[in-house]
Amino acid sequence: MTPIMQIRDLSVGYASRRAVGLAVTSVNLDVEKGEILGVVGESGCGKTTLAVALLGLIESPGVIQSGSVQLRLADDKLVDLVGLAPRPLRQIRWKEIAYIPQGSMSALNPVLRVRQQMTDTLVQHGLSKAEAIERARWALNLVSLDAAVLDKYPHELSGGMNQRVAIATAVTMQPAILVADEPTTALDVVTQRSILQELVKIRDQFGTTIIVISHDMGVMAQVVDRMAVMYAGRIAELGLVLNIFDAPLHPYTQKLIGSIPKDTGQHLEGLEGEAPSLWAYPPGCRFHPRCSLATAICREQTPELREIISGQYAACHHCD
Ligand SMILES: Nc1ncnc2c1ncn2[C@@H]1O[C@H](COP(=O)(O)OP(=O)(O)O)[C@@H](O)[C@H]1O
Ligand code: SF4
Ligand SMILES: [Mg+2]
Repeated sequence: MTPIMQIRDLSVGYASRRAVGLAVTSVNLDVEKGEILGVVGESGCGKTTLAVALLGLIESPGVIQSGSVQLRLADDKLVDLVGLAPRPLRQIRWKEIAYIPQGSMSALNPVLRVRQQMTDTLVQHGLSKAEAIERARWALNLVSLDAAVLDKYPHELSGGMNQRVAIATAVTMQPAILVADEPTTALDVVTQRSILQELVKIRDQFGTTIIVISHDMGVMAQVVDRMAVMYAGRIAELGLVLNIFDAPLHPYTQKLIGSIPKDTGQHLEGLEGEAPSLWAYPPGCRFHPRCSLATAICREQTPELREIISGQYAACHHCD
């Protein structure tokens, strides 16, 4: 299959006065058309930074240190979102790739009615006001919301409804790729499940490629086809979610899966030790201070992400 997105050697950092600390380091990833790809890892591991880089939206103090994000457009042309000028980027955003930002409650403008939030972008893309409202109604219906929501302000809606509005807004132009950053965080378990089902529905109906970002392994288990496990800015493991849950290869993934409480299947808690700051990564494998299998080579050499068994990749010196 031809990937719809190819991420190569992508490193993204934040600049202080003296240095750049890398929040995303040498990420290589192919995103297949029509898949739901999960990106999972503890808070601070670089998920949002990666998402923003995939949209070509990194701004100061963020810096792209290296790499490319090649997006295959509808006409099969490839475009590198890294360093793309604002104008061509605006043409690609929403139509080809759309973003549901983390914390949609706060991402929605509190002083604007849903109608305006949803139609402004469409009007900027050349639709008439009437067409834009028609599209907004269509998108709300798609995520199981009544068109009456158009007349509401965000504070008049529940967290789950706001999240649905954010999803509806992102799909109004029927993008080929949708990047959803923590779409279910802060919602109750029942609402989480129905929101995730909306994403699956969108993929099934339109063949939309969806990248779901979450700190919650439970979310991965519920919706994604493949997942990338991130640790301290790097991909630690990559493969089909079924295979990884069945037999995680990387010690970090094993800990994450082992920490899921059996009763609810939700949340990721209770990992001992702390993830390193992007200003003080340990040498070699960044996970070595927390890894019970660490040996001398782990403290000295960075393990490359490699295929250990068919279709399942891990970055670890000792996992085969
Ligand atoms: N604007 C910023 N300036 C400096 N550091 C940042 C900024 N945004 C994020 N970071 C740092 O980058 C790292 C990754 O953050 P983020 O991508 O938000 O992780 P995640 O989404 O996985 O929680 C964290 O250490 C965070 O503190
Ligand atoms: S490379 Fe070494 S320290 Fe890193 S996860 Fe593998 S065994 Fe643990
Ligand atoms: Mg985040």
